[in-house]
Amino acid sequence: MKKLYFPLKIKLTLWYVLLLAFVLFLFSIMTYLILEKMLISNEDATLKTQAQQVSSLLDIENGKIKSADELFYANTEFYGALYSYPDLRLIESNIPKALLDQYTYSPNFIGKYETLRYSKGSIRLYSEPIYYDNKIIGIIVIGQSLNLMNLTMKNLFGIFIFLIPLFILIASLGGIIIANKALHPISHIIKVAREISVGDLSKRLNLPYTGDEIGNLAQTFDLMLERLENSFERQKQFTNDASHELRTPIAVIQTQAESALNGKRTIEEYRKALEIILEESKHMSKLIHNLLFLARSDANAERLLMENLNLSDLIEGMVSELEPIAESHGLTLKVVKNDPSYVRGDQTRIIQLFYNLIDNAIKYTPQGGRIEISIENYGKFIKTSIKDTGIGIPKEHLPHIFERFYRVDKARDKKSGGSGLGLSICKWIVNAHGGKIEVESQEGKGTTFTVWLPALRKMS
Ligand SMILES: Nc1ncnc2c1ncn2[C@@H]1O[C@H](COP(=O)(O)OP(=O)(O)OP(=O)(O)O)[C@@H](O)[C@H]1O
Ligand SMILES: [Mg+2]
Repeated sequence: MKKLYFPLKIKLTLWYVLLLAFVLFLFSIMTYLILEKMLISNEDATLKTQAQQVSSLLDIENGKIKSADELFYANTEFYGALYSYPDLRLIESNIPKALLDQYTYSPNFIGKYETLRYSKGSIRLYSEPIYYDNKIIGIIVIGQSLNLMNLTMKNLFGIFIFLIPLFILIASLGGIIIANKALHPISHIIKVAREISVGDLSKRLNLPYTGDEIGNLAQTFDLMLERLENSFERQKQFTNDASHELRTPIAVIQTQAESALNGKRTIEEYRKALEIILEESKHMSKLIHNLLFLARSDANAERLLMENLNLSDLIEGMVSELEPIAESHGLTLKVVKNDPSYVRGDQTRIIQLFYNLIDNAIKYTPQGGRIEISIENYGKFIKTSIKDTGIGIPKEHLPHIFERFYRVDKARDKKSGGSGLGLSICKWIVNAHGGKIEVESQEGKGTTFTVWLPALRKMS
């Protein structure tokens, strides 16, 4: 059997109306019962006062009640009956006999309140003993019709019967309208969400911000779309840049090979062409290597093999390996400060990180320059800085240099063999290690890259 699904607005309204009906019902019953009880106890108090008053006015002679000339209950809205005691002889009464008998049938009727029904409605009765010389000599029964009270209660019941369904109806309509209004943006969200495809992430809800949960949802939805669009754009840009970067070396290799094969060349010319081809292949191989690394890191497939590392030794080792290269460029490469420092990291990635930074420093520092590395232990963090006296980076480029394929001067940096991926890889490695990378630079004076990595207290 197919399960029935109700729209949220119907469900909300239904729950709300059910609750309201329950509350109204409870409220009406309570009001009715409390009011009835109050009216009856009021009535009882009136009957008692009346009985006492009448008994105090009775004409008593020698312990005998004399029947009054005028009935004691005349000209009042009360009923009454007078008995002598203990013989229970009825002296006077204007209460229908059958009712009186019903009331006085039990010997305990003295002081009892009772409601009795008869053809003309209902009546409440109360009896009060009449004392003479500390002895009961008579009993007075006072009654009053409850018809007025019953009518009031009936009217109240009628009002409830009429008002409760009216309230429920108003509440249901109001509930549906409110739920409709409150949930309307959701239908809009569903519509926009259906229209969104990978090809077009530019759609937004653009709902006015209302500050409530739905407003928040709509805003979050838009922000999510914004992030998705940005990341999709970046991905697209990355693919475009990557294919462009790969096309160039392939074109060079192709041209070199073609022109070498076309016609006769001297050995020297062949050698030159092969050198260029080799150079471009190396460049391409590095590029592919870097691209694969970034693609893996994007897909969260790049796993770090964490181990405890002696950073001081690691960098010291790298520097002694790279020193000859720096020298060949006419540069001095030195570790100027080396606090004993340990970090937890992936050795290959940490080497790659500092290799890229030192490689940049070598590439972008003219002959005669200096590259100084310092490692400082700050307790919780290890600060490593690579400072060069190179060409520097113009201020307007600084915010972008960690972006993929970003090069300050495309033509110049291209000649240095760079593809603009080094620093974005550095940034990924530093982030993956819970650290931070910063850059400071002055054009024409030099650049300092600073890497902060969480410190390891001791090697174990
Ligand atoms: N030490 C530095 N001095 C001056 N400019 C630098 C320095 N380091 C980086 N840059 C600038 O930042 C750009 C980006 O650096 P990045 O390392 O990402 O790319 P690259 O060195 O050009 O190429 P790759 O590292 O992929 O071989 C460089 O092209 C260069 O313009
Ligand atoms: Mg680089």
